[in-house]
Amino acid sequence: MSHTLLLMGPLLSSIQKSLESTYTVHRYWESNDQTKLLNQLAPECDGVVTDGGRGVEGAILEQLPNVKIVAVFGVGVDAVDLDYCESQSIPVTNTPDVLSDDVADMAVALALAACRLLVVGDSYARAGRWPKEGAMPLARRLTGKRAGIFGMGSIGAALAKRLSGFDMDISYCNRSEKPGSDYRFVESLEKMAAEVDFLFITASATPGTIGAIDETILNALGSNGYLINVSRGTLVDEPALVRCLQQNKIAGAGLDVFASEPTIPETLFALENVVLQPHAASATWETREAMGQLVLDNLNAHFSGQSLLTPVS
Ligand code: 8YV
Repeated sequence: MSHTLLLMGPLLSSIQKSLESTYTVHRYWESNDQTKLLNQLAPECDGVVTDGGRGVEGAILEQLPNVKIVAVFGVGVDAVDLDYCESQSIPVTNTPDVLSDDVADMAVALALAACRLLVVGDSYARAGRWPKEGAMPLARRLTGKRAGIFGMGSIGAALAKRLSGFDMDISYCNRSEKPGSDYRFVESLEKMAAEVDFLFITASATPGTIGAIDETILNALGSNGYLINVSRGTLVDEPALVRCLQQNKIAGAGLDVFASEPTIPETLFALENVVLQPHAASATWETREAMGQLVLDNLNAHFSGQSLLTPVS
């Protein structure tokens, strides 16, 4: 029996092609009458596919009473109405682990770019300022410094492994201590922020973590500290972060994620102590293919009555 899926936004083209050759797929974002589309699909749609940023609202799922799976292309499921899914016993799958290495790589790249002034130096060199103005101001080193990781899941662990290679002293703050971990557990985020030079955010966005990086934490990190965020912008009080960067209350930041993507606070564009990325940490061909394959494998498992590979618990 052919299955009907609602696809909320475009996917990597090879993956979308596979999806569309296996299932009857309706493209929600391309529809010019989305209400009509939902009405029309109500009797037959048995699955929703979306990405981590787009997610899917309960209000959409309510109109599709036969949906029996929500498959997310991404590890973060904060944009999916999980309460609604739970209330209706709709399983949700995501794509953990396959993206951890790339996201950890991006966190390291952002940390190095921020403290070694890579982007500033690149502009300086391209603008021909070196021959005219001489050497740039000195940067700050990363090797041997203290790193604090907020969220010691798969991405946090991949990051810690990389930071060990830079001889960093690594501590972490997490819902609970990881038994047998090589790194120091710190229960209080504020205490950890005060003790480190680099604060990395790798925790997922949950009611317990959203807004966790507020002005108090940024002040604790202090004027020699760098904030690196590869998780979700919602974990940070963004106006407070902008203020701290403007007033040099922290040394700098490397940001892949923002509170209301794709909008980035414009004030940041003028600041040299921040390095920006357009939510690209998992955006390599290799990782996006692997994420897409996991979406396809989860759907295949669901529709053939097998256990899901990566259900969100
Ligand atoms: C993706 C992400 O950029 O995995 C996540 O939660 O945020 C990213 O890997 C996103 O899901 C794809 O749009």
